[in-house]
Amino acid sequence: MDPRPAPFPTLLRAPGTTPDGPFEPVLDVADLPPGAMRRVSRGDVDVLLANLPVGIVATDDRCPHMSAPLSIGELDGCVVACPLHEGRFDLSTGETVQMPTTGGIDPDGVYRPTWSPAGRDPKTDPPGKKAEARRLTRVRRLRYYPLRIADGRIEIVWPAIDDEGA
Ligand code: FES
Repeated sequence: MDPRPAPFPTLLRAPGTTPDGPFEPVLDVADLPPGAMRRVSRGDVDVLLANLPVGIVATDDRCPHMSAPLSIGELDGCVVACPLHEGRFDLSTGETVQMPTTGGIDPDGVYRPTWSPAGRDPKTDPPGKKAEARRLTRVRRLRYYPLRIADGRIEIVWPAIDDEGA
């Protein structure tokens, strides 16, 4: 089947982007086979391209927990496992599948406690600011960059920036 953009929830469009463009080429489709992930960057914006069973998506290459690069995580179907803290996220919906081990506030605003993978001793929360920071860290839903495929290339819309020269 020809590669195609995956639909994403309209409300989760990345801030500063518009659905109608301008689209700019970022990668040849041939360089993103099924099951692959790649990072593309402009300035300080890092975007994750992923070829999922439902199509190709462009989302932030920053874990919605503590910003680790999801592009070096493990992709299983539509779900990527973050290289830090065991968080797992559905790249097709933007939803959290598994909260990070550090716990925190989930996308619906509900506090989730720390946890440990099976077979490992439970971690005790360090006292003081660190525990407070963990408790107050919100894991939000992923955001998406509008994407299309033209002439064998993946094109996305970058966020507009005020400084044209940046
Ligand atoms: S940075 Fe990804 S789960 Fe913590």
